[in-house]
Amino acid sequence: MKVVSMGTGYVGLTTGVAFAYLGHQVVCFDVDRAKIDSLNHGKLPIYEPHLDELFNLATSNLKFTDKEEDIGLDFADVIFISVGTPSMPDGRADMQYVQMAAEMIGRNLGDHFTVVVNKSTVPIGSGNWVSSLIRDAYLKQHGQKPDGRFAMASNPEFLRQGSALFDTLYPDRVVIGGEDTNALDMMTNLYRPILNQEFAAPDFLQRPEHLGGVPLLTCDLASAELIKYAANAFLALKISYINEIGMLATKVGADITQVARGIGLDSRIGPRFLQAGIGWGGSCFGKDTAALVATASEYGLKMPIVESAREVNYQMRIWVVDQLLNELKILKGRKVALFGVAFKPNTDDLRDAPSIDIARNLIQRGAKVSAHDPVALENARRLYSGLGIIFTDDPYQAVADADAAILVTEWPDYRKISWSQIKSLMKGRLVLDGRNFLSRPEMEALGFAILNVGK
Ligand code: UDX
Repeated sequence: MKVVSMGTGYVGLTTGVAFAYLGHQVVCFDVDRAKIDSLNHGKLPIYEPHLDELFNLATSNLKFTDKEEDIGLDFADVIFISVGTPSMPDGRADMQYVQMAAEMIGRNLGDHFTVVVNKSTVPIGSGNWVSSLIRDAYLKQHGQKPDGRFAMASNPEFLRQGSALFDTLYPDRVVIGGEDTNALDMMTNLYRPILNQEFAAPDFLQRPEHLGGVPLLTCDLASAELIKYAANAFLALKISYINEIGMLATKVGADITQVARGIGLDSRIGPRFLQAGIGWGGSCFGKDTAALVATASEYGLKMPIVESAREVNYQMRIWVVDQLLNELKILKGRKVALFGVAFKPNTDDLRDAPSIDIARNLIQRGAKVSAHDPVALENARRLYSGLGIIFTDDPYQAVADADAAILVTEWPDYRKISWSQIKSLMKGRLVLDGRNFLSRPEMEALGFAILNVGK
């Protein structure tokens, strides 16, 4: 099939590369010329494990352009709208890029039937809105209605950064919303290799042994749109819940890792997303929970559970600094080293990263902050050079003369570095393990004083 991905962010690019690997002809469009130039030179603009390898395998089916006339929208069978929908100050999603994409599609619709798919996380009701934008743009361009030329579908994305390709090729489920049976059939055909797991698994991303097929849920547009928000909000509140219990665990002398295991073994609860720590960040949980609350308020509804999940999450970032203050008594003039800047391991993404809030708070209190990350420093230097954080490529340099260190992101590298060398370089001995990631007995044996979350 001929597939277009409008937008080459984490979702658009991963989707485009994956469908190209599955044998479809894919054109990826982005207004950012620098991104398109770099993709045309075989260089990926984002860090995502295995994406470069799959990109190389799929390259003959992939084309990248920043020019409307080169996309071939008039011949496309399926067009994914995968552009950014960042949060505005009031929590609502900024839809200007979706609008631009919809109008471009409307101007260029061809004679044959095209499915236009919302893959970006868009507010509930956006399917209808995008459809009307496409119709209006077509009418303006061609002087007639585009009847029968296109139908809308919603195909929410559930991939996690850091394991985006795995989640795309081996998802827990595929959700497709839409009212047009032809569109639903085309989307089912597009996804068939994934649904039936009929493709050859790449060597570097083996198929999980138990995976025979992938469930498909088809539903109406609004339900598909709400599924995305409801799923992300649920995962976010699961994490905030375990962190809230973690705060109590510390007080009563319990160990949150054991508590999480004990409740996670109950199949009604499940073990995943119960890793206590300094909380969630990233491009989705903060944005989507805010959008859910904003949407509900448009209908006069409150969402106290989701609001509490947000409150608990952002409190965790303050809690970290409070812990340091408790131990060090004075933060002014202290040096604190951060291990990890990315919002989670295996990504270079800094959106809503706890590291930045923590660093900002420490700097406001007069501390000096140094920070290391294995892959996110280029983005960190570009986006946060004005904050006063000393970014360094060398973890040992980051801790030189530090009074305390905070493990913010659980990069596997931080289990491999020499903590005895770090101990000798630090002035103090305090390590706040914000992800309960390091071996406490080993660290204590080296002479560190360890603080955990919920232990
Ligand atoms: C999330 C959803 O998981 C995905 O389905 C959706 O499409 C996009 O949003 P992502 O943000 O990429 O994916 O990463 P995820 O692995 O979900 O982690 C989100 C945040 O939660 C990270 O900051 C992570 O450190 C934190 N987290 C996750 C925890 O603190 N504890 C956990 O148990 C799991």
